[in-house]
Amino acid sequence: MELHSYIKIPFLFVVLLATLALGSTRVGFYKTTCPQAETIVQSVVQSSIRFNRTYAPAILQMFFHDCFVNGCDASILLDGSSSEKTAPPNSGLRAYEVIDAAKSMLETVCPGVVSCADILALAARDSVVQTGGTHWAMPTGRRDGFVSLASEAIFPSPSDSIDVQIQKFAKKGLNIEDLVTLVGGHTIGTASCRTFSNRLYNYNNTNEPDPTIDQAFLHRLRTLCPHGGDDATRVALDTESVNIFDTSYFENIKRGRGVLESDSLLWSDPRTQKYVKRFIGAKRPHRLTTFKKMFGKAMVKMSKIGLKTGNHGEIRRVCNKVN
Ligand code: HEM
Repeated sequence: MELHSYIKIPFLFVVLLATLALGSTRVGFYKTTCPQAETIVQSVVQSSIRFNRTYAPAILQMFFHDCFVNGCDASILLDGSSSEKTAPPNSGLRAYEVIDAAKSMLETVCPGVVSCADILALAARDSVVQTGGTHWAMPTGRRDGFVSLASEAIFPSPSDSIDVQIQKFAKKGLNIEDLVTLVGGHTIGTASCRTFSNRLYNYNNTNEPDPTIDQAFLHRLRTLCPHGGDDATRVALDTESVNIFDTSYFENIKRGRGVLESDSLLWSDPRTQKYVKRFIGAKRPHRLTTFKKMFGKAMVKMSKIGLKTGNHGEIRRVCNKVN
């Protein structure tokens, strides 16, 4: 055997040991310990969305907000006077009861086995599929975190420039392609008037609207948000197909019909426009397939932020409290 082979074997052994110690997620993690895990989550998500369609975007956004703070460790689900869910950017999050319902069913069938972090990750996948997205295999084996602090709940803001959006995603190991693809999650769901009303009435303190908004769309948004920025009134992020996971969100951005400023900026910068074009360029079936496939891939990448596996974290008994 040559010298470099002798060096390689112990090196591979060390890598293997390190991987086992840290652990990692894998598709079908519960195959033997709780074979029904994915089906149970899926059926709870399906029936919740059938009952109330707005659960789909709510669960998807909740997963993004979980992953961006402390990694995908269900820290968003913890109660507490200063936990993440009390932070202003999380004030609109809903659907905690869907995750709780799945967890309580799973605790009956396989107690102490399935983490809340995995339930949320699977529920986000199933929400996308339920609205028309393509199914993807979601690795599991995440464990639940112990820490949840409102002070750490910092997200990209709708008024962030493209540079800042890129930086914030890069800090989480996500590149520009991931950014554009994942923000495509805005193909479902709504935003409160508060998050974009500055664009309608007083953009950058000019007393004028954002000049990049399409005129007819501006008129429509002003009618929907006549009082400026209230919290209660909500507007579709993807006008006309708010409940369908498709590529029209990207077409709208191109036409000056993006609702959030951060969305419309994706078209104004060549670095992000390049990917928007990819999702609107080809013929309809092709662009839909491309976007849906890439979305699944980017979700898996996001789902690996700050993993807690192996000896880290715990399997909570209930999702809103540490054991
Ligand atoms: C630059 C990055 C992003 C910014 C600035 C942003 C901003 C926002 C804002 C301001 C809202 C409206 C919140 C409200 O009024 O309640 C919203 C909603 C939403 N966001 Fe994002 N977001 C970003 C990325 C993402 C990503 C990566 C995903 C998922 C993969 C996502 C999924 C959603 C969904 C589904 C909704 C609708 C929620 C509902 O209808 O309840 N967002 N986002």
